Amino acid sequence: MYKIINFPTLSSTNQYIKENYKTLDEYSVIVTEEQTNGKGRLGRTWISHNDDLTFSILLKPNLDSSKIPLISLVAGLSICNVINKYINCEIKWPNDIIVNDKKIAGILVEAVSSNTIDCVVVGIGININGLEYSKDLIMKATSLRLELNNIIDKQNILIDILEQFDIIYQELINNNLSFINNIRKYNYLKDKEVYINNEKVKVLDINNKGNLIILDKEETKEIYFGEVTLNNIYKK
Ligand code: BTN
Repeated sequence: MYKIINFPTLSSTNQYIKENYKTLDEYSVIVTEEQTNGKGRLGRTWISHNDDLTFSILLKPNLDSSKIPLISLVAGLSICNVINKYINCEIKWPNDIIVNDKKIAGILVEAVSSNTIDCVVVGIGININGLEYSKDLIMKATSLRLELNNIIDKQNILIDILEQFDIIYQELINNNLSFINNIRKYNYLKDKEVYINNEKVKVLDINNKGNLIILDKEETKEIYFGEVTLNNIYKK
């Protein structure tokens, strides 16, 4: 069902889909060896190596807009299910994949909408075989190769992730949210102290809607998608 299209270089795979979604089929997967203007969340830049995996999936979902943020969790779980075959990994809600307290992958989900949602772009960057990452990143980065001391076939990882994504995304489309139970098992933030809007709170869990449950002073609160700043692992 996927149609994989490879490019040697692109400014950004997400950008390419946003500019071409009208002529591309749903489930087109745009893969590139090099991004010259890779985008991260919150306007940040995503710098990747040729040895890493950089791709975006085009979706044209018929989904209630409240469910769109869950696509990010579907992507996170798909990546974790695959990376976990090599090494223990966790999901730092809502978008990052963590191995040994370092970021190994990031997800950028963007929607193009007019009155309705025209398309959703699921952009994924996974550090596979890179050996050096900037030390200035907010969270330290790593790659599979750095963690395993082994070169990994990135094509296999891509195919495995697409297979996982297909299964879990269909569950979401069919309104079966039981996959959230699996995300809970990979919850990197559980019991950690984080800053939300400069306030220190404690993360308790992820609820059945995929939102974060925190303890703010004595009060339990539900946090929707947004930036969660983690205490202690930020650059000192
Ligand atoms: C983040 O951690 O801030 C999200 C990073 C997302 C990077 C991927 S790489 C493929 C796709 N194209 C982009 O320009 N960004 C995403």
